[in-house]
Amino acid sequence: MKRIVVVAAVLAFGAGAVVAQQDQVKKTQAMMKDNGKNAGALSAIIKGEKPYDQATVNAALAQFEDTAKQLPTLFPESMKGVKLEGDYAPSPKIWEDKAGFAQQSASFAKVVTDAKGKIKDVDTLKAELGVIGKQCGGCHETYRVKKG
Ligand code: HEC
Repeated sequence: MKRIVVVAAVLAFGAGAVVAQQDQVKKTQAMMKDNGKNAGALSAIIKGEKPYDQATVNAALAQFEDTAKQLPTLFPESMKGVKLEGDYAPSPKIWEDKAGFAQQSASFAKVVTDAKGKIKDVDTLKAELGVIGKQCGGCHETYRVKKG
């Protein structure tokens, strides 16, 4: 009897771990997609397709900041080898070069914090988004791989 209880508990724990892992993958991807959407909204303003809108800018910065805070936990070791939907996957370098990835996350966090309060019009947006975009691209270049 006791043994059955233990086995059931182990099975339940295993299932929970898988669910948690999938949730994490989805969460990470949703967050990156939101980054993409926000960056897209900002570049539409820069290109003149949309009028300058402070609320859009602030919302994007808040979301980038949230990402920056969560980046250190967005790619736990348990995600290694987990298949993500979509065109991109985390590179194994995230786990092989943890210090480098942490550094990359930290410098992204820094430029986002620095940009806060500085963006007031299209010109300042252009300047700051250039700096932020370099960080997005820098991390993707090393730590993201294109599937297919
Ligand atoms: C410190 C590293 C890092 C930074 C900084 C970073 N990303 Fe990413 N990004 C990744 C990794 C790793 C992936 C691949 C895993 C995934 O898709 O979740 C990714 C995936 C993406 C994707 C593809 C999502 C999908 O699967 O469809 C988009 C879009 C994206 N990032 C946008 C951005 C933007 C915009 C910024 C900057 C505002 C940014 N990222 C900053 C590491 C980073």
